[in-house]
Amino acid sequence: MIWDNLQQHADTLRGRHLADLFADDPLRFHSLHRQVGPLLFDFSKQRLTTETLALLAEFADARDLRGWIDRLFAGEKVNGTENRAAMHWALRARAEGHIPEPVAGLFGEVADQLQRMERIVNKLHAGQWRGVTGEVITDVVNIGVGGSDLGPLMVSRALEDYQVSTAQPLNLHFVSSMDGSQLSHLLRMLRPQNTLFIISSKSFTTVDTLYNANTARSWLRDALGRDPAVVDCHFLGVSASDTKMAEWGIHEDNRLRFWEWVGGRFSVWSAIGLPVALSIGMGAFRDFLAGGHFMDTHFRNAAWLDNVPVLMALTGLWNTNLLGISAQAILPYDARLKYLPSYLEQLEMESNGKSVTRDGEPVDYSTSPVIWGEVGPNAQHAFYQLLHQGTQVVTCDFVVPAMRYHETDRAQVTGTLSGQHELALANCLAQSRLLALGEAALPQREQMPFYKRYKGNQPSSTLMLDELTPFGLGALLAAYEHKVFTQAVLWQINPFDQWGVELGKKIALETLSLIHSREDSDDISEQMLATRSAALRDSMDGSTVGLLDFIKQQRRG
Ligand code: F6P
Repeated sequence: MIWDNLQQHADTLRGRHLADLFADDPLRFHSLHRQVGPLLFDFSKQRLTTETLALLAEFADARDLRGWIDRLFAGEKVNGTENRAAMHWALRARAEGHIPEPVAGLFGEVADQLQRMERIVNKLHAGQWRGVTGEVITDVVNIGVGGSDLGPLMVSRALEDYQVSTAQPLNLHFVSSMDGSQLSHLLRMLRPQNTLFIISSKSFTTVDTLYNANTARSWLRDALGRDPAVVDCHFLGVSASDTKMAEWGIHEDNRLRFWEWVGGRFSVWSAIGLPVALSIGMGAFRDFLAGGHFMDTHFRNAAWLDNVPVLMALTGLWNTNLLGISAQAILPYDARLKYLPSYLEQLEMESNGKSVTRDGEPVDYSTSPVIWGEVGPNAQHAFYQLLHQGTQVVTCDFVVPAMRYHETDRAQVTGTLSGQHELALANCLAQSRLLALGEAALPQREQMPFYKRYKGNQPSSTLMLDELTPFGLGALLAAYEHKVFTQAVLWQINPFDQWGVELGKKIALETLSLIHSREDSDDISEQMLATRSAALRDSMDGSTVGLLDFIKQQRRG
């Protein structure tokens, strides 16, 4: 019934252009934006009305959103297929009021790990962390992939303005790609004596990370010898598996832990955020956590139509399932947020790229749209042509801080630099306006040939932070996390597993055995491997066999 009402309502709105919606209601912005703490969420350029919102809120009730939020924050096992809770929010929580078990017991563990992290950060900042030769560590390389890379990479780059000045300045580097090219490029520039590696992996079994870690260890041993102290002095580990870190050789004092109840893509708030803390210091890292906690509190308490993450989710559901829009672009108008699109691609698509309900039934509706993005000003010169004149409807998230330089800073920044933020802001507002209104955005309309025309009606939301601070960024990321959770509730799927990535990992390892095999070898074990490989190869499709043959030909020269 509610869904029928939504569909009928969508039928009436479908033919209405955003330009008409704005012309009909001069107060549209007032009724279709919300401000919570540092974040303003403007969704007045979405193709909906206040009536739409009322219907969507009813749908949220029908899907028991309140019950699911309560279960999430009670530490219930909301991740059914892995039989786990999802308590990333507990990493940034403050022990306030009555906290039920099992959550209460976790606060102590979380605080312990934060303290261990703080000791490590302080030691490195003070220049007291020495390599095996006694030289001070100057370069820190985070080796991880997915959530063990994108979170710390994105946040530390976004908050570069907050870098702390310390006795020992540290250069931070990130390596994720399994092909080794990032690592080899970096190793050419670094000195083993001054380099510390952080091996970040929730599972500590991800081959991408372990191959890079093994290469880093060989590089250190080749230069500094095989004494166990080399690994002790030059490696830290962050993982949910203490045992696996120990097996790999990470010294007990150098192991930071987090927990199975923190999903990889939700883990930047844990010790996975160590590179962030190394960059901005523990004080600012705690501000980042406080921003996340602020949004948790808002999400738990605000009524649906005042609740920013819920409104983000409802808007997304409206676009995907009622208007049939299957693409979403993330467009930050601040290059410090360069990695935000990749981060949100993982957060949204790995969470909600699902086609089976929590009860194991196939869904007969769309779930996560395809999400991609780029720093907005650069994207203007790349794919905005499609947004303005292509045939696809794309909903956009414009993300931008209102202010970059305070009056006091302005005097200190070079020449026209302070004005450049204003230029980006102007472009952000102009582009979202043109996308929404099309030619109606022009003061005077002239007859234009078709190839110059702008049809508009591309929906967008603008997420404007007061400033890009640790607190504000924490609030923004937590808002996206809760948007994802809310959409999963509405779609009746589990956002916290990722079974779809498992089979690909397995067959990649089998394929590796084919690439390694040496059919011409005299060695018996090599021949056995080759025989097994032949059976595997026989089970392959023609394309893969053809490509494998080409690789072999090239290797033989
Ligand atoms: O393969 C997907 C995934 O499991 C992500 O969910 C995760 O962020 C990434 O791999 C890295 O996993 P780990 O931290 O266990 O190395």
